[in-house]
This record gives sequence, structure tokens and C-alpha cells, in this order.
Amino acid sequence: MSSKRAVLALLALTLVATPLIAEDSISAKLALTPPMGWNSWNKFACNVSEDMIKSMAEAMVKSGMKEAGYQYVVIDDCWQVNRDAAGNIVADPQRFPSGIKSLADYVHSLGLKFGIYSDAGSKTCAGRPGGLGHEYQDALQYAAWGVDYLKYDWCSTTTQDAKASYANIRAALDASGRPIVLSICEWGKAQPWLWGKEVGGNLWRTTGDIQDRWRGKKEWKPGDCCSYGALDIADEEAGLYSYAGPGHWNDPDMLEVGNGGMTDVEYRSHFSLWAILAAPLIAGNDLRSMRPEIHDILTNKEVIAIDQDPLGMQGRRVFRNETGEVWVKQLKGGNRAVILLNRGASEQSISVTWEQLGYPDQLTANVRDLWQHKDLAKTSGKFGVAVPSHGVVMVTIKP
Ligand code: GLA
Repeated sequence: MSSKRAVLALLALTLVATPLIAEDSISAKLALTPPMGWNSWNKFACNVSEDMIKSMAEAMVKSGMKEAGYQYVVIDDCWQVNRDAAGNIVADPQRFPSGIKSLADYVHSLGLKFGIYSDAGSKTCAGRPGGLGHEYQDALQYAAWGVDYLKYDWCSTTTQDAKASYANIRAALDASGRPIVLSICEWGKAQPWLWGKEVGGNLWRTTGDIQDRWRGKKEWKPGDCCSYGALDIADEEAGLYSYAGPGHWNDPDMLEVGNGGMTDVEYRSHFSLWAILAAPLIAGNDLRSMRPEIHDILTNKEVIAIDQDPLGMQGRRVFRNETGEVWVKQLKGGNRAVILLNRGASEQSISVTWEQLGYPDQLTANVRDLWQHKDLAKTSGKFGVAVPSHGVVMVTIKP
């Protein structure tokens, strides 16, 4: 073996022996706050096309969503139809006649970022070709197209090991040389919060798919659990706060705000909970035709600032009884964001104590209501208020 080949072989061995992600890798610097964007699945499922995605990117700019921080425009399942003779993934030529590169260029020309979807197994969840065995080939293709974000699903994975599969696609993405956010979509089955950061995942789904309803788990089909209402997902995430942080987030799934299955009060609660959970804020509605109420929820900058707080701490539930809850998120600089949540059928008074915030009782603090955009009275010891059924009061508390 020539010395050059020996060095290459040694390098290859080193790469194989260190599959996990280094602190200084390109991917370790991505998504330092929870990613914000839009994804096609919740509203459009397989009905995706380049015209629709282009008009959605335009709407993201025109509606003020971009200005509020939304950035990634992500095509979910069904953009792909097969592989060519060389194994390259092929986009649907009817629905994407100009090709994915041209679409990504257009999205970039609007100052936005572009995301795409594939799957760790042989087929995607909608039965399109998956990434298995093509990870490095696909990663190079995505990089050449200008992909900035990859959602990687978990259908048709039979006996695959989740951690190894996601480590593999992350290594492939990094080898492409392009910084690409990796969204692990494994539904929480193999507890990705325990290994997602280590393999360079920037976010990982914690549950099965969200459905556009306030609460209630439903089996997909007998024996196959589950789709989740907004409250059920919040319940599942309540214990996972210690795993989230800058660059690596628990993902309670994409937003349903504006899709019609909840009241505006419930959508406000859904959005507030996602913000206190430091969740990726990926809108899933039709941005081209939002009612003003929906627009005002999705672009509430004070609530978004809680989600995007640079300290990157996920909020915790510090109190619950049958129908009332208190959630607290520590913010950079020592302030707290608080949600008082009423899960019950009638209005009730809910309060947070300074003890629950980790503050001394006598400390005086300003309270600001993030939905009314209004400073409330200074107070100490506790803050309580009437909360409507299925609603929240969301405040920041600033000593
Ligand atoms: C799974 C994912 C969804 C969506 C669909 C697409 O169900 O969890 O978010 O991507 O697949 O087929």
C-alpha cells in the first residue's frame, strides 16, 4: 500500500470509528434557537407542487411571517417519485417541472431557507422512495440543490437501529460540506431525546403525529398508536425539559394553528404551550389565506421571543390540579415566562407563586401580559388571574 493510500485508509477508519458528532462540526452550530418555518404536511399532505410552495414562500414574506422570524420553507412527503438508473432521487416531473434546485433558488431569492423530507427506511410514510442505502448520494444531491433543512422520517425501517440510522444520515449531510439542519422524525419510539444530540440531530419528534384537535389520542389503526391532540403532546413533553438546549430541541410536531379544528382560544393556548416548550415553530396552515386572528397568533412577537430566548431552556410544568396548570420557562437574564392554562370547561382563577418561580416571596416584579401586550400591576409573592375555558394567560415576570 502506498503511503498516500495508507493515510486515506487510516482516515476512513477514523471516520468509521467516530460516528458521533464533534462539538466543532458544522451541524453543532445550527439551530441555536428553535427552528421556525412552514411545512406542507399538516394542510396539504401529498398535494404538493412547485407553484404551491412558491406562493407559500411569497406569502411568508408578504404576511409578515418572515419578519416575525419564520425562515424555513419545507416540502414534506410526496415530492419524490422514483430513482433513476444511477440511483439518484427523482422529483415528480409533473408537480415540480422546473426541478428542486430552481425551487430552492427561488426560496433563497426571497431571503428564506429551503427544506425537504425523506425517510431513513426503504420507503417514506406515503410509500415514496426512502433514503436507505442512498444516504451519501442523497446528501450530495440535497447539498447541490441548496437544501438547508432535512426532515428524516422513520417508516419502512424494519429492523434498523434508530440511533445508528440517524448518525449515518448526519455524517452524510456533514460530508456534503453544506450546513443542513437535521430534523429527526422518529415519533419518540426509541427515546431520541437520549441520543438525538449525540448523533447531531437538531430537533427530534417526541410523539406520533399531531392532529388538529385540542385533546385526545387516537390509534391510527387498531394496535397502532397514535395521533395526538395538542394537550396530549404537551403532557408527553412535560418531563423532557432537561434534554433540550441550543442546537438540539424536543419537537412536539408542527403547528395546527389556523387549520380549523380548534377555536382561536385553543390555538392561542397551543401556540403558547409550544413557545414555553422551546419548540420548533413550524406553521402548518395555508399562509396565503389566514384570518387576521390566526395571523396575530402566529406573528405574536412577544410570544415568539419566549420560544426563541437565547438561553434555550425548555419550560416546565410546576403545578397542576384537575383542570388548572402553571408552566414556567426561565429566560436569559433571570426573568420568567409563565403560562396559566385552564384545561377545564369553565373560567377559573389560576395563580403562580414566587416559590414556583424560584424567587424570594418579597421580591417585587413587573408582570406583562403577552397576548394583551400590556403591563399589569407590579406585584410580589404571587400573581393570579381569571383564565377562560381552554385558554391561557401568558405573562413575563421581571423582577
Ligand atoms: C409521518 C410524519 C409526518 C409526515 C408524514 C408524511 O407520519 O410523522 O409528520 O411527515 O409521515 O408521510
